[in-house]
Amino acid sequence: MQENKRGGTMKQIKLEITIEARHYDELTEEDRRLIDSACDATQRSYAPYSHFSVGAAALLENGMVITGTNQENAAYPSGLCAERTTLFYANSQYPDQAVRTLAIAARTENDFLDTPIPPCGACRQVLLETEKRYGKPMRILLYSKTDIYILENVGGLLPLSFDGDYLK
Ligand code: THU
Repeated sequence: MQENKRGGTMKQIKLEITIEARHYDELTEEDRRLIDSACDATQRSYAPYSHFSVGAAALLENGMVITGTNQENAAYPSGLCAERTTLFYANSQYPDQAVRTLAIAARTENDFLDTPIPPCGACRQVLLETEKRYGKPMRILLYSKTDIYILENVGGLLPLSFDGDYLK
């Protein structure tokens, strides 16, 4: 507890997240395959405006892998990120299958990125809902040519988050 200027007490809340960084060859074969699927998916991105191609691959509880990409539009806000395209498709087709791991990769016209691409804020909110919906941790793999970031659940990507519990 600290005293503030008005003589009241101030409590500080610190939130910590842990991200593991590994090289591709240090991953399990299952994780490597999912990363490969996300990288491969970037080829199917529709990004004529940003030229930034994002691919995602979701490993479902039943072992299926669903991929998706960013889909842009001349009316920019009408487009959608790869993460949401992938999760919404997976959840539409297999609503009873938890998503256990989601791998994300991005490339410019030249190459994949040197640093892992973090999902945008709106995608983090959707990732969180997907994890919560199935009540099981959803691992996140963020690919880059150097390090691959591994998060054991979505909570780390969106601390102090809003979810359906507040609506009860
Ligand atoms: N994009 C994604 O697909 N995922 C992200 O996490 C960040 C951004 C897409 C949206 C847009 O098509 C392009 O990348 C540039 O922002």
